[in-house]
Amino acid sequence: MRIAIASDHAGFLQKAPLAEYLRSQGHEVLDCGPATDDRCDYPDYGDKVARLVAKGEVERGVLICGTGLGIAMTADKVPGVRAVPIQTVEFARLCREHNDANVIGLSGRFVSLTDNERILDTFLTTEFGGGRHTGRVEKMMREDDPAFEGVPVDF
Ligand code: RB5
Repeated sequence: MRIAIASDHAGFLQKAPLAEYLRSQGHEVLDCGPATDDRCDYPDYGDKVARLVAKGEVERGVLICGTGLGIAMTADKVPGVRAVPIQTVEFARLCREHNDANVIGLSGRFVSLTDNERILDTFLTTEFGGGRHTGRVEKMMREDDPAFEGVPVDF
């Protein structure tokens, strides 16, 4: 699978080992930075990976920040991306089966490298369940969401 990976300074320490792990599993990994552990802003890197996923240049995105939260929130703003912060193998399975997540946000500060490897194994090998989940994911991805019709912009 073709995968883009990026982090901020708080996820930097795990980025290279996780990229190497993915390569050892036969994946093609594109490292989108940063190149050093200098303090940086996670939105810059979350956005890069999200755009590659949205354009179809990679199949999945792997993002690592301190918690996995901010970098996933950034990626979710890009249309076509379904990014989720994940800390357990079970949630990694469910975000694929139920939500067809295509980007994962990992915690470099609160989850060990070994646990993140197991989480990635599950994230990359679990298929979307389809069936009753298909319509829900389609609704989630609608850009003309009727739920927002008539809702004032500044509500
Ligand atoms: C950086 O200190 C930290 O805020 C960032 O890595 C991330 O956890 C944000 O969600």
